Amino acid sequence: MNKDELKKMEEEALRQIREAENMSKLNEIRIAFLGKKGQFTNAMKSLRDLPKEERPVFGQVVNEARSNVTEKLEEMKTALAAKAREKQLESEVIDVTLPASRMELGHRHPNEIALEEVERIFVGMGYEVVEGPEIEKDYYNFEALNIPANHPAKDEQDTFYITKEFLLRTQTSGTQVHEMEKHKLPIRMISPGRVFRADELDATHSPNFHQIEGLVIDKNITFADLKGTLAEFAKQLFGPDTKIKLRPHHFPFTEPSAEVDVSCFKCGGKGCRLCKGEGWIEILGCGMVHPHVLEMSGIDPNEYQGFAFGVGLERIAMLKYEIDDMHHLYENDIRFLKQF
Ligand code: DAH
Repeated sequence: MNKDELKKMEEEALRQIREAENMSKLNEIRIAFLGKKGQFTNAMKSLRDLPKEERPVFGQVVNEARSNVTEKLEEMKTALAAKAREKQLESEVIDVTLPASRMELGHRHPNEIALEEVERIFVGMGYEVVEGPEIEKDYYNFEALNIPANHPAKDEQDTFYITKEFLLRTQTSGTQVHEMEKHKLPIRMISPGRVFRADELDATHSPNFHQIEGLVIDKNITFADLKGTLAEFAKQLFGPDTKIKLRPHHFPFTEPSAEVDVSCFKCGGKGCRLCKGEGWIEILGCGMVHPHVLEMSGIDPNEYQGFAFGVGLERIAMLKYEIDDMHHLYENDIRFLKQF
């Protein structure tokens, strides 16, 4: 190899380096020219074929050319790295003007929506909303409500007893007693809350569900007041054409007692799937507060009378929103809840 050939080789290397578009191309060039079997290495080897006196001069020329190529290669490497980084930064740029991804919000439970509706109706009629304890004394859950020790309603199979004296309330009716014991008359209250019974969860039962208790105590309260109140409640809850029907029933703490049906708000009373062809749907229990119950709480039944009622909240929610299985109300599947 002579000087001219070496010069050409150097120029060729520099041209390729200038035109290299990326690191891997640059690496190929490095191997081709500077690698173990590269062109500059071969050029060094060809020194052997030169006459002895020419070797140092030519060797120096090869070295210079090689270091020049090495230098340019390094420069190019730095330039390519900078370019690659710039490109990466460009592609990774964050557009702060883009809308943020939405946070998934929860949803109100059908029970909650139904309860608000019921509360709105009764508060509108001047009722107070009060709360009673979920852990209750046997006295408030049973005895003060005229349910004595041997009464079938007190069946231990239905009641979660904590001790002989304490239990998980099976009904919200105990709040009636708590309110009456305060002796602030007259009383006009509703009391929503959780109740517990030793039931298996199925399409219409649950070991814990919710009731709304109602109690009115005043002078000159009659059964007509009860009927008028519930008729208004039914109209506001299920629509202005809704009628109510009272069927005689028995509850230990009311006398007389009744169960209340509403005309089916879906078919208007003709009979459909919702009312099971009956035209009527049972929604609550009620009655005139038993004189014995008034007396036990220290209210004179000759001076004061009252009525009471108890509604199942799940039942209202299931009817109103046409939910066919109680499981839905306890699973809290957001896809279900979002429908209401
Ligand atoms: N506590 C009753 C129950 O759980 C419902 C009930 C009926 C409540 C009549 C009342 C009432 O206040 O007067 O089945």
